[in-house]
Amino acid sequence: MPTPDSIRIMLMVTGGIAAYKSCMLTRLLVQAGFSVKVAMTEAATRFVSPMTFQVLSGHPVATDLWGEGQSHALDHVEYARWSDLTVVAPATANTLAKAASGIADEIVSTLLLAQPGPVLMAPAMNDNMWRHPATQANVVLLKERGVQMVGPGTGFLACGTVDEGRMMEPEEILAAIRILADTVVPRDADGDSPTDQTNFWAGRKVLITAGPTHEAIDPVRYIGNRSSGAMGFALAAQAVARGAAVTLISGPVARPRPRGLREFVGVETGREMSAAVATALAANPDWLIMTAAVADFAPAQPASGKLKKEDLGAGWQLDMVRNPDILAEIVPAHRQPGLKVVGFALETEDVQARALGKLKAKAMDYIVANNPTAEGSGFGEENHQVQLLAAGGMIWQSESRPKAELAAELLTELARHQSG
Ligand code: C5P
Repeated sequence: MPTPDSIRIMLMVTGGIAAYKSCMLTRLLVQAGFSVKVAMTEAATRFVSPMTFQVLSGHPVATDLWGEGQSHALDHVEYARWSDLTVVAPATANTLAKAASGIADEIVSTLLLAQPGPVLMAPAMNDNMWRHPATQANVVLLKERGVQMVGPGTGFLACGTVDEGRMMEPEEILAAIRILADTVVPRDADGDSPTDQTNFWAGRKVLITAGPTHEAIDPVRYIGNRSSGAMGFALAAQAVARGAAVTLISGPVARPRPRGLREFVGVETGREMSAAVATALAANPDWLIMTAAVADFAPAQPASGKLKKEDLGAGWQLDMVRNPDILAEIVPAHRQPGLKVVGFALETEDVQARALGKLKAKAMDYIVANNPTAEGSGFGEENHQVQLLAAGGMIWQSESRPKAELAAELLTELARHQSG
């Protein structure tokens, strides 16, 4: 695990009153042993003087893309590469929006776009700005791309209300930074760190399945399920962020593809997913992570034309056939030695025993069990709680967390178990 003094943090301060708390954050980071450089938007400099951050960080502060004598002015790409991880605190609605859409029109947004490593954002804004669908959509998009979010919390806002939108306290942001710092690969003796902001997952080939399947009844109707693909997409984004070469096979979902995938394969049916997994296994991945909710049964003979209710009468029977179980039937025939298999299981009773039963029956190395009826989990809920089991039993239980954070933690725990 890298020590703080080998880790370089670019702290980006944007224009909110919470900028004053980032002075304390800078101090805490420096005291903890991190190297810190600060970049500020023009608006941030209206709240706190760059000189304050310069003194606290011990480095000149970047405030202007074009400023004379600013070393980052021409080579912002190199400058951005200096950092192992980037923290945006406070992150205003404006900066979140720019980051989500790739705008680079001043120093902070430009460095954000140019930096290759993990990013943690601590949003801070008025409650209405936070709740605005535009901001929420930007946050979802950023999380799907692997950006970590800490907060905002609820409390006293500068506009006079007590509501959601308050930047987390410097100590809480520091705790989140420490978790992210664990994923950073120490630099070599020359201090070089290409895009290797990861440890265990860097360079590994990871095959991930996600989403539901749609099994056609006729050309317009299908049998599906409520899987949103969130967990698989979050794992893919997090694995990419850790330097893995990721192939994502997904059933039909309405969500943007994570950036930086090696390959994306879109499928409709369980049979198509089986075929796509078999093909992808030929490329000899190191890991297969099966989050997909593959339909167990499919209509035996999908109608070629739309079924008409007049022809079907008052009730009708649909003949169904079993879909192949990908883990149990497809993977054994195609797996190469050394492949690690992670399955997922949704269980409502006897969660651990049933999950372990599946792990053994389907020759998985790990299984992630979740109970959608448990408090802090469930369909449509933002937060989820899971257990990670290996053949010997449970090895980790999560807190109730957003799926993007769970995905990050799951990769860390899998790496920890493999390395330990
Ligand atoms: O038995 P159960 O469907 O609960 O097992 C869940 C695990 O098996 C998941 O990892 C899922 O992706 C995988 N699965 C599969 N092929 C199927 C159904 C589920 O590989 N046809």
